[in-house]
Amino acid sequence: MSYNNIIADFDNGITTITINRPKKLNALNKETIAELHEAFKEADQDIDVKVIIITGSGEKAFVAGADISEFAHFDVNEGKLLAAKGQELLFDFVAHLSTPVIAAVNGFALGGGLELAMSCHIRVASDNARMGLPETSLGVIPGYGGTQRLPQLIGKGRAMELIMTAGMIDANTALGYGLVNHVSSQEELLPLAQKIAGKIMKNSSVAIASAIKAINGNYEDGVNGFELEINEFGNCFGTEDFGEGTTAFLEKRPADFPGK
Ligand code: COA
Repeated sequence: MSYNNIIADFDNGITTITINRPKKLNALNKETIAELHEAFKEADQDIDVKVIIITGSGEKAFVAGADISEFAHFDVNEGKLLAAKGQELLFDFVAHLSTPVIAAVNGFALGGGLELAMSCHIRVASDNARMGLPETSLGVIPGYGGTQRLPQLIGKGRAMELIMTAGMIDANTALGYGLVNHVSSQEELLPLAQKIAGKIMKNSSVAIASAIKAINGNYEDGVNGFELEINEFGNCFGTEDFGEGTTAFLEKRPADFPGK
């Protein structure tokens, strides 16, 4: 499929999605969110795609937030709808994908940009990255899951401070907070994400999908994560990947998972 605001490339088991509005620092307008939904959906449904990497084009920004020009005139109901639609189409959607998603944060990740990175399963950042949720400086709060996912990742006190001050943290502070897993130079960022993807791809994609579901269960209201884990664990025993993984171990050879 061809897109106006993003580029999706497939190579060697990895789909790399690049948000491509560098002149607007890759700000997420409505069309970009819709295109991202389609690209993520298509990649997730393709059995050959083992990992998805998302990044921003240009050297300056991952995503500098939701496109402020689109919602500056909204009323209360339009505001609620904006957040609900965005969460459904992109942020919750990505968090619950079966295919692992790595955010390669290559510059500013602000507002909706940081919320997108936090929806991904893993985050890595280049050393020029700056992250924050500056919405209170615009008279609004994060609406794409930021008030929930930031405290989950860095703790309530730090999240309160970052959101209330509308401040930005650099990549190394984000690393210290556990907001990103690794920091690299700008040139090494995509190779680093690809290296992590390579390690993930050696394992069973169906087991990984189950692991994502079980881990997410820890953060969902009304879900008993331990029960979910028992269920997902049991389901693994019915998969071809389980047969291959255990047989390969006993035969002392690397597993060749069919992904079923
Ligand atoms: N929405 C819409 N447009 C945005 C944007 C956003 N979130 N972030 C940046 N842009 C646009 C700018 O309006 C500018 O467009 P123009 O050249 O047509 O005027 C272009 O991207 C470049 O941004 P600029 O502000 O000139 O770059 P800078 O290097 O001076 O500053 C930032 C970079 C990230 C500090 C600054 O762009 C910024 O504060 N952006 C908004 C961040 C934000 O509040 N995000 C949360 C939104 S809910």
